[in-house]
Order: sequence, then C-alpha cells, then structure tokens
Amino acid sequence: MYKTPIIFACLAMFGASVCSADAADRTRKQDVPLYKDASASVESRVEDLISRMTLEEKILQLNQYTLGQNDNINNIGETVSQIPGETGSLIYFGDNAVLRNAMQKRAVEQTRLGIPILFGFDVIHGFRTVYPIPLAQAASWNPELAGQACRVAASEAYSAGVNWTFSPMVDIARDARWGRIAEGYGEDPHLASVFSAATVRAYQGDDLSQENNIAACLKHFVGYGASEAGRDYVPTEISRQTLWDTYLPPFEAGVKAGAATLMSSFNNISGTPGSANHYTMTEVVKNRWNHYGFIVADWNAVMQLVNQGLARDGKDAACLAFNAGLDMDMVDNCYGEHLAALVDEGKVSMERVDDAVRRILRLKFMLGLFEKPYTEELPDSERFMLPESLAAVEALAQESMVLLKNEGNVLPLENKASVALVGPMARNQGDLLGSWYGRGRDSDVISIYDGLSGALAGKTEILYAKGCDFDGNDTTGFAEAVAAASQAEAVLLCLGEKRNWSGENASRSTIALPEIQEELLKAVKRAGKPVVVILSNGRSLDLTRIAPLADAVLEIWQPGVMAGPAVAGIITGKYNPSGRLPVTFPYTTGQIPIYYNHRASGRTGSQGRYQDIPSTPMYEFGYGLSYTDFEYGELELSSDTFRAGDRITASITVKNSGRRDGKETVQWYISDPACSITRPVRELKHFEKKLIPAGEEAVFTFEIDPMRDLSFVDHDGKRFLEPGDYYIMVKDRKYKITLADE
Ligand code: BGC
Repeated sequence: MYKTPIIFACLAMFGASVCSADAADRTRKQDVPLYKDASASVESRVEDLISRMTLEEKILQLNQYTLGQNDNINNIGETVSQIPGETGSLIYFGDNAVLRNAMQKRAVEQTRLGIPILFGFDVIHGFRTVYPIPLAQAASWNPELAGQACRVAASEAYSAGVNWTFSPMVDIARDARWGRIAEGYGEDPHLASVFSAATVRAYQGDDLSQENNIAACLKHFVGYGASEAGRDYVPTEISRQTLWDTYLPPFEAGVKAGAATLMSSFNNISGTPGSANHYTMTEVVKNRWNHYGFIVADWNAVMQLVNQGLARDGKDAACLAFNAGLDMDMVDNCYGEHLAALVDEGKVSMERVDDAVRRILRLKFMLGLFEKPYTEELPDSERFMLPESLAAVEALAQESMVLLKNEGNVLPLENKASVALVGPMARNQGDLLGSWYGRGRDSDVISIYDGLSGALAGKTEILYAKGCDFDGNDTTGFAEAVAAASQAEAVLLCLGEKRNWSGENASRSTIALPEIQEELLKAVKRAGKPVVVILSNGRSLDLTRIAPLADAVLEIWQPGVMAGPAVAGIITGKYNPSGRLPVTFPYTTGQIPIYYNHRASGRTGSQGRYQDIPSTPMYEFGYGLSYTDFEYGELELSSDTFRAGDRITASITVKNSGRRDGKETVQWYISDPACSITRPVRELKHFEKKLIPAGEEAVFTFEIDPMRDLSFVDHDGKRFLEPGDYYIMVKDRKYKITLADE
C-alpha cells in the first residue's frame, strides 16, 4: 500500500495548549497529582488525569501519526520537531530507541501534563529475528511454539521502544487469491482462536508493565478476509449469522485472553464499513465483551469512509467512525481536524470523548509508561538474533513445514553422494522472509542452499543451478539445471512466490505458480531422478501440474531467518515433519472458495459437482504426512448419552508404528446432523500435538464441555444447545453421542 506522508494540521491547536515546562515543574513540586502516583490504582489515575485535560489535549490522545522513515522509500517520515508532544500514539519505524526516546522526552518533559506517547509498530512475525508467517505458524498446530516466537518478537520490539504491536491478525480467510491470507491463521475459527489467544498472551505476558511485554492488537475487525474474489480493500458480504459463527470467534478468544486493542477493518460489511460499525465495535466488543482497551483505525480507514460511500467528507467520516466506537484514528488526522468542532456542534458527546480517552490512557498506565517512559538503548548484539531466539524460531519453522507428498519414501534423503539443488528459491534469502518482515534484513536469512551446505558438508555434493526466475519467460538457465539433475542422484527443486506476492495489496487471480516454474519442473523431471519440490509461498497453491510430477512435495511457507537449517533438517531426517495444513489446497483456482467446514448441500452424490474439475480439494485442511506411521486405536467415551451440564471424556490411543520418533496432532471434530440453524459438516473443536517415540503409544483426550463444544451460535451471538444426536470425529472414525431432553 502506498502510504503518504502526514501533514499535521493540528500544530496550531497544540501550541495554544502548552504551558511552559518551568510552570509545570513548579506545580509538580508543590503538589504531585494523583495520576503521577504509581501506588494509586490505574482507574483512579485515569480519572484524575482526565479531569485535568482540556478538550484539545483529549483529542490529541485520539490520534496516531508516524515517526521515522517508513519502509516505503517514497514516504519520508516526519521529523521529531513537527509532532505535537501531546499526540496519543506514533507508529515508530526505527529499530533503536534513540529517536523514540527523544520524542518521548518531548511528551513527558515538555508538555503540560506529561502524558507519554504509545509507540506502535507492525511486529507481525518477528521484529528483527523474523520467523514463519502466521499462516505457517498455524500449520505447526503448536501454539506454544508460536508463543515462544512472539516472546522473541516482543522483547526485540521492546528494546527499540515499541510497546504495542499490530498483531495478531485473526481474520479467517478462505480465498487464497487474497494476499493477506498469509498474515492470519487460516480458514478455521477454532484453530485461529487458539492461536489468537496464545499469541496475545505471549506478547502481553501476565503484566503489561513488566519489561519485554507489549500490547497486542487483534485485527482487522471484522470480516476483512471475506474480501470479494480475493481483491484487497473491497466490500464483503457477510450475514450476521456468518459473522458470529465464523468471523467473530477468534476476536472473542483474543479479547478473552486480554488483548489490549483491536484494529477496525477496511472492508465494508454488507453496507456498514468495519470502521463505522456500531454493532461490531460498540455493541459487541465494548458492551457485550466488556473490552477494557481501545479500538484503533486501520491506516486512513476513517477518511476512506468517504471513498466507500458512507461519509460525505472527512468531518462526516470522523463523526461516524467515532460515534460507532472507533477510539483512535490512524494517520489520516480526521479526528485531529474535526472532533473539536463536532463536540462544539453537539454531534459528538463529551462522554464519548472521555470514554475513548479513558481507554487509551488506561493502557498507557497499564504499560507502566508513566513510570518508565524511556527505553534503554542497547547494542544490537545484546538484543537481536540471539542464539536462544534463533533456536526458538527454528523450532517453529520446522514444525510449520508440511510434507504433502512422499512417494516411495524418497524423503528423508539418506546416503546420497550428490543432489542437484535447483530453482529460483534455492539461494534466495529475502523472499523467505515473507511480507511484513518488520526490521528484518535479507542478509539475516540462512538460505536453503546454505542450510543444506552445512548439513551435508563432507557427505553429499550439492550441484546448484538456478534454472529460471520466479516469473518471466527466460528459459536459458534450464539447460544448466537439467545438467545438474542428470549428474545428481536426486533433485531438490525450490519453487515459490516472491514475498510481495502475498500480504497486503497483493491479490492474485490465480493461485498457480507462474508457468515458467512448472516448465522448469518438467525439464528437470526428464533427467529421470527423484524430484523433491520445496515450495515457499504465502497462500495455498494450485499444485495440479506440480504434485503429479514430483516424488515428494514439502510446503515450507515463508519460514524466516532460519529457513535453511529448518529445511535441511527435514530433508536430511534430523527433523520429522509434523506440520498440518491450516487451509485447504484446491486443485484449481476455480474451486475457490473451498474449505472443509462448509454447510451440507441438499443433493448428495454426484449432483452439484463441477463438470470439468474435481469438486473435492487436492489436500484437505488438517492434512500432512510424517516420516513415521501413526495407528489410531478405538475411541473411548465416558458416556454416549449426556445432559447439558455433564462433561464427557473422549480418548484415543495412537501408536507410532514406524521407526522414527514423530509428533502427531490429533484433531477432534464434531458434527450436528440436525440443528435449527444448519451447521458446518464438521467443526474442529480441539487438537493436541504430542511427540510419540518410535514403537510407543500416547493417549490423546478431549474433555467435552457440551455448552462450549457442541453448542452453536445464532445471528446475534446467542449460544444454544439442542437435544439430539451429535458426532465426535477423529481421523476416519465417527461416534454418536446423544444429548437427552432435560
Ligand atoms: C494494514 C494494517 C497495518 C497498518 C499499519 C494497514 O495498511 O492494513 O494491517 O497494521 O497498515 O501499518
């Protein structure tokens, strides 16, 4: 997205409200105000501070601008001297605290009330130590590992003075043409909810005021993933029913986990844009979920209400967004320019202004910013890319990789004298970072080539040939690639997407890789050696012409800085792949949207199918292979009839019957075959991932709380549980349980 520089129209207003620093100092010495008393409660400090603020000071708290050099080279950040010290928040683009501390000094020491600024940044999958994109994290089915990576991100961000990340993105996405599918946890509300809660807890810790904890932001509220035809920023058509049963659950889970903030979305939700939606922001988040924090707009989203056809002009946009419950305006300055007049005209109430300011100040107090406004300036060697951080992100990277095919157990590659390493991704670094790589650097990434060189040194010769670029039609490198394939015992073909092919504003009309990459595969295949295709991409792909030609396919997503060691570990067998798909892989783009938890059709069997392509996906949600075999025993239930208040225990024994240790994720689904509101054919309700040593067994258990796990939700969020039959499904097993009439 093109982000324009901000012009501050509010400077004059700011100047008028500032007292001299000397006067403020004198006042403090005579009488320390309650809001500066660290021993007082957060709420009393908030109220005391609000009671001292002018309307202008309050309005400045409701705005966020930028500080520092934006990633976009066309976008020069404002210099410190132009930003009012009373500003509520700044997006900070620096990776050390110097500029940030200078700005904070202005806020704390040179304004009348000394309110610290809240510094935010998009720390999406790592600050400097970049780890797998969120979609890949979900593929690990290991929220604990994702949490450990978020802790790395939080402490690195904190060291730069960033106290607030615009993460996690918990938009359910079922259309891989939409580039932002990379930024979320996939297609399933339960999986996304688990990752939402885990990442929020990891960023924030138990106490926001402690070092290395940063505030989280659930985004984009709500339904942004339903973007029509996968185009970005476009309207979405979402019924209230679907809002509640599909799009809201990960946000609710994040709010329950304590997320300090939410970000309103760009999309128009069936006529009412997310950034002016009173129902979602005020009725749901604030009134029903009792959220303590605040809602920030997405970039320019308030002003965009004009383009969306809701608001007449910036003033109207500010009025609509603010009254709908949007507390902080990001970048476009609509609040800064218009809120004072709107209050004057009686269109915005002082109660609403105080409510928004209260929420923002509350977070600043909770973060301890009043007591500790400055960030210690540490050398990079003490905060970035630390050995324990790299170990954590490598663990996540390898568990997120999904083995999609392994014909004749071609993987792991063992006892090979030589392998050909081919393809545009083989020696690439930057594209393995994915989109939104924070302060990450291309040179930080260990490429697949370097990872394999380390792992195979002295054992296997690597014959490298790029073959071709990611796109275009230059096939001159094919001959060299074919020659390498002919000389080697096996081929590792590294294909995929550039990092800017997914993420924001990166929609694609087809989810197949460009033809030249498919042609390269055909060419090296002709050498007659086993071909392992390694794929790095930020969405599910159409592999119709790739998978059949490959002996093995390994989906590595965009794994971040430890890509090389993680891939090498799987290729050589040091790691046993344990990732499972968090999104369905269709055969073709034409099958989109396709997801496992759809509702049932009225006609079954062969009816209603596509005539020209299959109607089932190529690889289902939850799918993924291992180097070992897992045998599932019979499911045991504590009871097959129950009442609403009962608890049922379901358990199953899984045996690792292969010769390698491996991690298995047992996925528990339910279905309700007859309900007054029809439900998806299957719904994931619980999962558990465990290491099972070769030859051993492990018991997996699902404690079923009927109201939590079997109930459904209506179009206004009311949960209900109907008597009748339900099914518990695990692997290919299906068991009936019955809720008796009370
Ligand atoms: C994106 C958000 C992001 C924000 C701030 C927007 O364009 O949609 O996800 O947090 O910019 O950079």
